[in-house]
Amino acid sequence: MSTTPSFHVLPDGPAVARAFADHLVKRMAEKPNGPFFWALSGGSTPKLLFKLLVEEYKDKIDWQRIHFFWGDERCVPHDDPESNYGEVQKLLFDHVPVVPSQVHAVNTELSPEDAAIAYGELMIKLLPANSDGLPILDLNMLGMGGDGHTASIFPANMKELLTDDRICAVATHPESGQKRVTMTGPVLNASDEIAFLVTGSGKTQRVAQILNKEHGAEVYPVAHIQPTSGKLHWFLDEAAAEEVGY
Ligand code: 6PG
Repeated sequence: MSTTPSFHVLPDGPAVARAFADHLVKRMAEKPNGPFFWALSGGSTPKLLFKLLVEEYKDKIDWQRIHFFWGDERCVPHDDPESNYGEVQKLLFDHVPVVPSQVHAVNTELSPEDAAIAYGELMIKLLPANSDGLPILDLNMLGMGGDGHTASIFPANMKELLTDDRICAVATHPESGQKRVTMTGPVLNASDEIAFLVTGSGKTQRVAQILNKEHGAEVYPVAHIQPTSGKLHWFLDEAAAEEVGY
């Protein structure tokens, strides 16, 4: 049974990052023992979050508990500027005491197809599963592109990826043609909690279409992301939330 989304509207990007960081602390306190399974996303807002975590949350989080995953990853070397893993290593992992063996990066030395299979197998091995056999993340942090994509589920490939019975699949970026490994829609929706971090006036219209459930919003992948039995949070800045009708 899906629950009503929670909305957190903050003045700007840094405030969104701080609200999410506080939420992360709260979520980890709600699950006080054992591993905490957190999936990261690429994009610009998470960069603000990683910098804030280093500056102000280093001693507020038990980094040794966290297992890091990625909702999607570009099929490039980890030292490539395009790498989502490489970005987090530079901004966060190099500065806080994470457990390296708990940082589960996509193996981008494999072919995209093999990397997707391997990552799905890793998730199945490490994560608890729901009644459908899908791996459950404690917290799945996602962004939204201007075209309403999330992870690497784009409008062009969403019909396949929203109903895919695989854990991860290969996606192609519609403009650059870049190959990516992405969690599929059912896996995103199997998460105990999904948190969208969306900022900027460039997202205002899309956010409004989706959150106001306007006619035609169903063509955007984000409109189909709703935890099957978990919670959904939106962390928005005022610019992105400007036309949301409630
Ligand atoms: C990626 C992300 C992608 C991102 C959105 C939003 O690898 O690029 O996972 O889904 O979250 O494109 O990015 P911005 O926050 O930069 O707009």
